[in-house]
Amino acid sequence: MSISIVILAAGKGSRMKSTTPKVLHTISGKSMLSHAIDAAQKLSDDITVVLYHQAQRVQEAIEAEYSNINFHMQDAQKFPGTGGAMKGVTTKYEKTLILNGDMPLITQNSLLALTDGDADINMSVIKLDNPYGYGRVIIENEEVKEIVEQKDCNEAQLETKTVNAGIYCVNTELLNRYIPLLSNENAQEEYYLTDIIKMAVDEGKTVHPVYVEEEEFKGVNSKFDLATAEVIMQDRIKKELMESGVIMRFPETTYIDCRATFEGECILENGVTILGASKLINAHIKTNSVIEESIIEDSDVGPMGRIRPLSHLKGTHVGNFVEVKKSALTGVKAGHLAYLGDSTIDEGSNIGAGVITCNYDGKNKYKTIIGKNVFVGSDSQLVAPVTIEDDVMIAAGTTLTKDVTKGNLALTRTPLKLVPNFFYKFFGK
Ligand code: UD1
Ligand code: MG
Repeated sequence: MSISIVILAAGKGSRMKSTTPKVLHTISGKSMLSHAIDAAQKLSDDITVVLYHQAQRVQEAIEAEYSNINFHMQDAQKFPGTGGAMKGVTTKYEKTLILNGDMPLITQNSLLALTDGDADINMSVIKLDNPYGYGRVIIENEEVKEIVEQKDCNEAQLETKTVNAGIYCVNTELLNRYIPLLSNENAQEEYYLTDIIKMAVDEGKTVHPVYVEEEEFKGVNSKFDLATAEVIMQDRIKKELMESGVIMRFPETTYIDCRATFEGECILENGVTILGASKLINAHIKTNSVIEESIIEDSDVGPMGRIRPLSHLKGTHVGNFVEVKKSALTGVKAGHLAYLGDSTIDEGSNIGAGVITCNYDGKNKYKTIIGKNVFVGSDSQLVAPVTIEDDVMIAAGTTLTKDVTKGNLALTRTPLKLVPNFFYKFFGK
């Protein structure tokens, strides 16, 4: 089916109380607008996003992620409102689906239901116990007759519990004809997209109500709504992952970015956070560990381990209070209390407790390269840039400032001095 999609994202979102544009607030790692675009892309290759408030910022964010989205600038001074947003928008195909940028929970299946059938307009409706704030939908003989905005409702209309969920699929030819005819003679002095319904009905066109899941169509308007949507999205992500074979010990305490992927048999213990487009393959992530934008392959991390962006662990054991950043560890053991940043560590090497790569001199970052079978003794500082070849021992407490070649021992320890009976002399006991 050929269908065009328009996503309305020009509104100010003042209830969000934020300097970040509403649609750029994130849910499970992606902006709300990106979630809407992802759902749209499953149906269409002609997607237009309508912008106005902080348009440049929103456009740049979307262009950094997608290459095939059209943008339309609403003239919101002259033509405010959802109908104003559609003025001047051109779409390619015979049906146009109009979405809102602040509905991140919408799924492909619901969108498909809205594009189905041969009505001139399909519109999304929900039955609510408390319809406050929504446009009320007047339905007769199972066809929509009119939408009346809350602020324009009379007493009887206010009682209507069937409301407009805000998404429509419209015959493009009709849409192009109706939009220029919209007027702003209403309580809010805005151009209402919803008025096209009455225009269609007056011309004898069919306007079909499609009953949709309230959960998916709830617009996010406040930070409370954002948190509510986040919980729903997390439940969906985790359910899907568990169905595909990931073990989660206590899923309510686990947070997983929607971009993360899992292969093989993975175990996530309680309190685990997986961020960014992390990739886990046969990984066991123990209690309260954080994985950010990294690959964890045939490895275990934690409890209380932190793997920061652009790390790759392979066949590796990382224990408690170990922080790894932008490092590749292959066949490594780092059991306790270490910082490994900007490093490459090879097969069979052991990193003792308290080892630190000193990767930053206050101006620049430098690399630490550690070869195979290297034993780095506890509490050593590896001052980068530094290279340690294969089969090397670094004695405990060493401050390493020079490269070490194959087979050697490096030791910078101050020799031990024993002063007999010093205690008794000092305290006079
Ligand atoms: C709209 C509907 C209402 C429906 C409700 C469902 C109209 C007139 N009313 O009301 O019947 O029950 O959605 O949530 O359409 N936008 C623009 N430009 C604008 C104004 C809004 O792009 O000038 C965008 C917003 O960014 C948002 C969407 O349109 O994504 C909806 O706007 P909003 O102000 O939330 O409409 P409501 O008043 O809630
Ligand atoms: Mg709204």
